Amino acid sequence: MQTELYEVDPLSDNKKLYVKAAEAMAEGALVALPTETVYGLGADAFNAEAVAKIFEVKGRPSFDPLIIHLHHGKELSKVAVIPDELKDLVYQLGKLFWPGPLTMVLPKADVVPDIVTSGLPTVAVRVSAHPAMRGVVKALGHPVAAPSANLFGRISPTSASAVMKELGGKIDMVLDAGACSEGLESTIVRPYVDERGKPVLELLREGPVTREQFRGVAKVIRKKPTSAPASDEAKPAPGMLESHYAPRKPLILIEDGQTFEPEEGVKYALLSYEGTSALAEEGDWVKVVPMSPGKGRLAEAAVRLFALMREMDEDESFDVIVAEPVSAAGLGHAIMDRLRRASVKR
Ligand code: TXA
Ligand code: MG
Repeated sequence: MQTELYEVDPLSDNKKLYVKAAEAMAEGALVALPTETVYGLGADAFNAEAVAKIFEVKGRPSFDPLIIHLHHGKELSKVAVIPDELKDLVYQLGKLFWPGPLTMVLPKADVVPDIVTSGLPTVAVRVSAHPAMRGVVKALGHPVAAPSANLFGRISPTSASAVMKELGGKIDMVLDAGACSEGLESTIVRPYVDERGKPVLELLREGPVTREQFRGVAKVIRKKPTSAPASDEAKPAPGMLESHYAPRKPLILIEDGQTFEPEEGVKYALLSYEGTSALAEEGDWVKVVPMSPGKGRLAEAAVRLFALMREMDEDESFDVIVAEPVSAAGLGHAIMDRLRRASVKR
């Protein structure tokens, strides 16, 4: 299959292009679309056959459900059934964070095909802030199911070229709008009301919307990630597979307070926060790759993380990636989460 690649023009409304992509999707095509977080591999969420192709192309196990993307928060009631006691909380979250990098897991409406939710009674929903994703969803007139546009278990793509490298020749179309502005996948929460009637958010995946930003909205609880199940039948808590976002090369994460002992004859490169730490300066590295050179800005580190991991994965001058911790505040939680999932267990 020939994958058509189109550039989104930052200076025009791109309406024709969005209609073209939507028309292809209405026929069952898979189209990779930019969002502010990472590129998504989109299909018409109401077309079960097209959605099945997403699983096939990604090599994604059928127990791992997809996120659906709406054009606007007001369409939420078309895909989710929100219990009365949750309405205030969900409305507040939508008002605060949509359009934006927040995904909510809510009881699903019957119209959403089971394949989208892997048979779960809940559906994950978000409204992206990216004009291309929103424009295509609007033109299609249906929600778009879109997981990250990478092969299962690999690093999420933050550019169209990263999508092409992994899925070129296997999907119909890619819309190229340059690099993603957030660089990390959306924060996923499951809102609910506890026995005492208090609003709670179960944090299923850390992301650009940080725990601190939920302060004053709801209490946040976090469950421990589980390991991948041996078979398709054994269902883990979705979104919580421990190993994910992995480069092919081993990645060793040094947590705060841990030391690093290099092995004889192995070539290491350091993925460093700023590139100026004692470890960066004193270690025997083939190279030091800073996420936020000299500045230590978490947002910059987040935007660059996946692209740097891909680059280091392809670099043949060393064998193992060693990663230094970033500060554990705000976005740092999400960055550390992705580094932990990418790392080999020590
Ligand atoms: O930023 C993002 O969220 C990107 C862009 C493209 O929107 N999408 C993304 O999708 O990261 P994906 O499929 O790579 O990750 C979605 C996660 C999965 O880990 C899945 O298990 C979880 O969302 N998920 C989906 N539906 C769920 C549900 N009903 N309950 C719990 N987790 C769910
Ligand atoms: Mg993914």
